[in-house]
Amino acid sequence: MEKYIINGGNKLVGETSVLGAKNSVLPILAATVIGNNRSTILNIPNLRDVEIMEEILISLGCIVERVGNTIMVDSRTLNQIVIPEDLVREMRSSIILMGSMLSRTKEVVITYPGGCEIGPRPIDLHLKALRHMGAEIEESYGQLYCRTEGLMAADIQLDYPSVGATENIILAAVTAKGVTVIRNAAREPEIIDLQNYLNKSGARVSGAGTSVITIEGVKTFKDVTHTIIPDRIVAGTLMVTSAITGGDIILKNVIVDHLLSIIAKLRETGTQIYANENTIKVSGPKKLNSIEMLQTLPYPGFPTDMQAQMMALLSIAGGTSIICETVFENRYKHAEELTRMGANIKIFGRVAVVNGVKELTGAKVTAKDLRGGAALTLAGLASKGATEISQIFHIERGYENLHIILQNLGADIEKTN
Ligand code: UD1
Repeated sequence: MEKYIINGGNKLVGETSVLGAKNSVLPILAATVIGNNRSTILNIPNLRDVEIMEEILISLGCIVERVGNTIMVDSRTLNQIVIPEDLVREMRSSIILMGSMLSRTKEVVITYPGGCEIGPRPIDLHLKALRHMGAEIEESYGQLYCRTEGLMAADIQLDYPSVGATENIILAAVTAKGVTVIRNAAREPEIIDLQNYLNKSGARVSGAGTSVITIEGVKTFKDVTHTIIPDRIVAGTLMVTSAITGGDIILKNVIVDHLLSIIAKLRETGTQIYANENTIKVSGPKKLNSIEMLQTLPYPGFPTDMQAQMMALLSIAGGTSIICETVFENRYKHAEELTRMGANIKIFGRVAVVNGVKELTGAKVTAKDLRGGAALTLAGLASKGATEISQIFHIERGYENLHIILQNLGADIEKTN
């Protein structure tokens, strides 16, 4: 199994560009089945999760062609309704195909996705909303059999602004009869990107980015070309890289508006940030300050997908920081690994108390999940001595060639077997 070997201590300096957001690509690729049309999607990162979605689309009968960072999907040839179980197990977010397949074929069979590395990932909100819209969903031996005579628009009040549930409802509603309203919808930028893609293809979606989204069902779609927004979590991770190594990194192709909560918290640590149109410059301070409270929340709050990286940073800040993870209940597996590197972190349920130490020391650690693995990589860059990170396939689910990007910024990091 592949590993990262990192010799810490280098300040990371230089310029790099941010590719498209994984969490935008996945729902948009799922949406390509709806229109019985051709979609050309640009700025796609090269990641295993994207590959899995491509494999699913091919298994459904779509023609999928990838050239560099562009994927073309022709969904006119779609002729299957069963999503292969092994692919759903490998990527939980394939559940968004429920909405898009019900929209297109009125029928879909998909494996119940179950939990994942960051804790239980229920889909009760997805199922409740789709049933409300007229889908019959039977659960049997871990399979979900979903069918409908025709989806009907509905007024849906979400109990929680779930990103996946909001996307699933939008995808189901674009061909439903009437006008669907989602209240307490997720407001993440990736939902706006999905709206923009859908509307270019002829759908009528409005309000994405606010907590009330309205979808008017339509019958026909046209061919569409769409460019994915930059990945705000990859950008945030590289911002923390600069902060944790006392470096100077310029990030190009970012949307500064999507990074405001990350910028605010990094500034509290003493990190200097200059933002200008689509570019951001991040200069790490000589000495990092602790943060009184870092609470993860749905957008525009601080993203749960940046919590682990911030924990790595705060573990070498002067003083005590409190982190409260309100989005996923079991998202602290990286804390134990950081402790192996000398961090002083105590977990009390959803709260982590991080007492900053003078320095971290290299150790053999394991990436337990995607963002936790990224956090260990950053910790390794700032540590004294060598760090070996195993199970880096988790990291590669969300970061394309992270080790090469870091090498180009001056890091001593190698990928080995
Ligand atoms: C998406 C992102 C993920 C990010 C998360 C929160 C993708 C592919 N993934 O995941 O990177 O960490 O948003 O920003 O976009 N919940 C329920 N019932 C449901 C659905 C969700 O209780 O039916 C709960 C979850 O257990 C979790 C919370 O709601 O505690 C947030 O989940 P959700 O917003 O749905 O996250 P995902 O869409 O799975």
